[in-house]
Amino acid sequence: MRIAVVLGTRPEIIKMAPVIRELERSKADFFILHTGQHYSYNLDRVFFEQLRLPPARYNLEVGSGSHAEQTGKILIGVEKVLQGEKPDVVLVEGDTNSILAGALAAVKLHIKVGHVEAGLRSYDRNMPEEINRLLTDHCSDFLFAPTEKAKAILLGEGVPEEKIFMTGNTIVDAVYQNLEIAREKGNTLDALNLKAKEYFLVTLHRQENVDDRIRFVSILEGLDRVAAEFKTPVIYPLHPRSRKMVSEFHLKPQNLTLIEPVDFLSFLQLESNARLILTDSGGVQEEACILNVPCVTLRDNTERPETLEVGANILAGASPDRILEHSKAMLGRENNWVNPFGDGTAGRQIVKIIMGGSND
Ligand code: UD1
Ligand code: UDP
Repeated sequence: MRIAVVLGTRPEIIKMAPVIRELERSKADFFILHTGQHYSYNLDRVFFEQLRLPPARYNLEVGSGSHAEQTGKILIGVEKVLQGEKPDVVLVEGDTNSILAGALAAVKLHIKVGHVEAGLRSYDRNMPEEINRLLTDHCSDFLFAPTEKAKAILLGEGVPEEKIFMTGNTIVDAVYQNLEIAREKGNTLDALNLKAKEYFLVTLHRQENVDDRIRFVSILEGLDRVAAEFKTPVIYPLHPRSRKMVSEFHLKPQNLTLIEPVDFLSFLQLESNARLILTDSGGVQEEACILNVPCVTLRDNTERPETLEVGANILAGASPDRILEHSKAMLGRENNWVNPFGDGTAGRQIVKIIMGGSND
């Protein structure tokens, strides 16, 4: 059996790494097809190097562009590769343009599609990711749901039960496999002059937050107020989309320490030692929950409701008052919830299932 792993962005590389490790361990016939959606060193190569992943056999180098342009280029490129390689299964992860195009190219060639992290819904179709995950789920043959809730959503949408496998989320595998290594590496806080549990960590990069000037300014004002109220350093590794918009809108964020995006081990150190995390990232909401660090989500909805239910996360949207209020509320909570995203064996289960076994 030949397996193609199609990926293209930072979170896909990180969350697919445990699956790739397991494919290597079981000596499977597989290859990586990188779409090139992310191409900057600190959003792409650094993760291959640090997580010791084999190099991609193909890189389509599609780069940035409008949604249609980027998705269309990936679709054309993936189809060519799949026609040549003739894999039996294509694996994709998450909700980006890369994965929608990868899944669509495969299903039209009658190649089976496995979707890692299936069944997540924000029910907000203004988000490009919601369209991507919905369509990808509905062209998949193996739907790897991270939680019971995700499985129930898929069943509710009419996906046959035999296609759905509850495996947990591979981000748990990635965190467990790398946390100790990150702790040993341990110099990121010193380099930034930070003390454990005496700073807040921010990530903010979603199209609907940073491409809208009013919304971006409002969130930055909320973060500024949080920093001033708690007299605490706030570290913000700036995604290139956000950097571009800060410059285009001529913004000068106050009270925030802006840094370049960091590698995964450094980011795990920053997350696990933060007093509070404020974010609009999907993966960062999960990691905060797994690491028992309270999280304030800078969005009006989340496709990770499990984090809200266990008390690890709260939705603050973009209002400065709510960002401040909700930060206070989260800082007052006990951080003793149980991680709802599985036991860190998702990668192993996924490989076993596609190679013809079950995950019992
Ligand atoms: C994409 C995903 C988003 C995911 C994020 C992970 C879609 C629709 N969005 O958003 O779901 O959360 O990746 O980080 O697929 N840029 C660089 N270097 C790069 C890549 C991008 O400088 O390596 C800049 C370019 O200015 C580009 C902008 O970032 O225009 C946005 O890149 P794009 O791939 O369109 O979307 P992301 O915001 O990265
Ligand atoms: N991350 C990282 N360095 C950073 C910021 C984030 O390694 O400077 C990692 C983080 O640990 C998480 C992933 O990137 O695993 C989240 O990716 P992102 O926020 O870009 O995408 P999303 O999860 O929102 O799709």
